Amino acid sequence: MSEFAQGAPAWWDARYRQGSTPWDQGIPAPEVLAFAAQHPGEGRWALDIGCGTGTHGRALARSGYRVAGIDLSWVALQRARAAAHAERLPWVGVQGSAEDLALFALAFAMALDVGCLHTLDPAQAGRYAQALRRRVPPGGHYLLYAVHPRQDPAQSGPPGLSPGLIEQVFGPGFDLIWRQQGWQGERRSDWWLWQSRSP
Ligand SMILES: C[S@@+](CC[C@H](N)C(=O)[O-])C[C@H]1O[C@@H](n2cnc3c(N)ncnc32)[C@H](O)[C@@H]1O
Repeated sequence: MSEFAQGAPAWWDARYRQGSTPWDQGIPAPEVLAFAAQHPGEGRWALDIGCGTGTHGRALARSGYRVAGIDLSWVALQRARAAAHAERLPWVGVQGSAEDLALFALAFAMALDVGCLHTLDPAQAGRYAQALRRRVPPGGHYLLYAVHPRQDPAQSGPPGLSPGLIEQVFGPGFDLIWRQQGWQGERRSDWWLWQSRSP
């Protein structure tokens, strides 16, 4: 893959520099706020996968989590770090791929993914799910937002993942608590809350 190919770190950096980031409105999703209200962090660690500029991670930190964000984009991570620092929130960032979750030597009480998993292909998603299970001990949560695959090649946005594939990769290690179906423009989308299961 060339340095600037779609999905490469430099491609994401360029999107952030150009402001071509419609998802980055600085307003946390109600689903994340509701989760944080129901499950305050109490000093435990949360993992924000594909954290971007950290809007959702900061919402978790305000509810008592210590947050580790991982993202391919150095530009986004710098903005996330500055914003967390300005609020004196406990936040650390790592530049890396969601495929590298095994690198973290931490146990997370919860993991969050708002719009990153659905950029991966099915094989990558499978590796991500296996690594995530090892990072989130039994009882821990995984809150996910993902769009479905394109129905029409003319549709824009990420490749998306089918709900069936998501159930296939996370089902072996996590129990589904709820799934909320919705739309992102013309694309179907879902919020999912999973809970890590005892082996
Ligand atoms: C749609 S944005 C969402 C950002 C953030 N979660 C939010 O809600 O604002 C997707 C993010 O995932 C990051 N990303 C894409 N592929 C990734 C990968 N393989 N590993 C880590 N981050 C990735 C991008 O750099 C981008 O910041």
